[in-house]
Amino acid sequence: MKPILWKNNRLELLDQTLLPHKKEYHVCQTHLDVAQAIRSMKVRGAPAIGVAAAFGMVLAFNSFLKKQKEKEILEQTLEEALREAAAVLRSARPTAANLAWAVNKMLYCAQKDSFSTDHLEQLFERKALSLMEDDIKTNMRLAEYGSELIQPDSCILTYCNTGSLATAGYGTALGVIKTAQASAKNISVMVCETRPFLQGARLTAWELQQERIPFTLITDNMAGYFMSRGKIHCVVVGADRIASNGDTANKIGTYTLAVLAKRHQIPFYVAAPFSTFDLRISDGSQIPIEERNSSEVTQIDNVKIAPWGVKVANPAFDITPSELITAIITEKGVLHPPYVESLIDMGSP
Ligand code: MRU
Repeated sequence: MKPILWKNNRLELLDQTLLPHKKEYHVCQTHLDVAQAIRSMKVRGAPAIGVAAAFGMVLAFNSFLKKQKEKEILEQTLEEALREAAAVLRSARPTAANLAWAVNKMLYCAQKDSFSTDHLEQLFERKALSLMEDDIKTNMRLAEYGSELIQPDSCILTYCNTGSLATAGYGTALGVIKTAQASAKNISVMVCETRPFLQGARLTAWELQQERIPFTLITDNMAGYFMSRGKIHCVVVGADRIASNGDTANKIGTYTLAVLAKRHQIPFYVAAPFSTFDLRISDGSQIPIEERNSSEVTQIDNVKIAPWGVKVANPAFDITPSELITAIITEKGVLHPPYVESLIDMGSP
């Protein structure tokens, strides 16, 4: 499955708002199109929006180059144009660390070449392509580490969508599940539907079906029941931003699952690449939480389910404190609490 395509100088995104019933690519011709696709969740998942934004930077560069070649009057220098595009892309969604990480990598690449159009003409596109390829390799590496934590015959609970769709390919938490399955561990999966946007029911269920991994779809409020019946043996989730003490922002509802897992003494694993860590912040209280449109709560598939005019809250993420996390699986290995020390031992970037 190719969720992100770079073709003929255009970015094509497998539109995740239409899945699983319609498989259609959404074309982005400018960095503004990319920012809009990120805001509207046509592309979503922390690593995926980072990769999409990197190509958004290439589109901003190409547009500048075109104007320069056509000898249009330029109102900005390349540096100003790229910094403006970077600010627009970074602000499209505030919680996922990978978004700013990828945009900053692109800016740094341009800066290293003194914002020279001649040098960057070839280089800039290659940089975005390498970020995309690296994300897949990173996921496969972390999946290998994570798969070692999965016991044979276990049932894994997962949340939101952390597979190929949420990344450049393969996936983080879902990558761990895929590798465990490929290692003949005879696993099964329980997928929470993940209200309000239903990433579990629409996207994870679709991906698992294609991978032929046995799974059961449940509503989010069923997780405790199945844990109390001994039906769930571990939880594996992704992350949008991880503070240096291990506090983790992930899809709203993740914290609830972590509390339940602790109550039932079930291991709770977070799987994420290093690009998701924000080591400038000491704990989760400093992570900005995105508030999304109320219609995601009052409607399902454009069908109104709540009465008109109700007051709604819709935080897209919550923070799971590090003391509820058994281990964090990364491409460099598995981190154990206390995470500050574990990160230092691993020689974090
Ligand atoms: O709002 P979303 O769908 O972008 O949220 C996605 C998640 O919370 C994922 O769990 C996270 O980005 C990790 S994806 C590899």
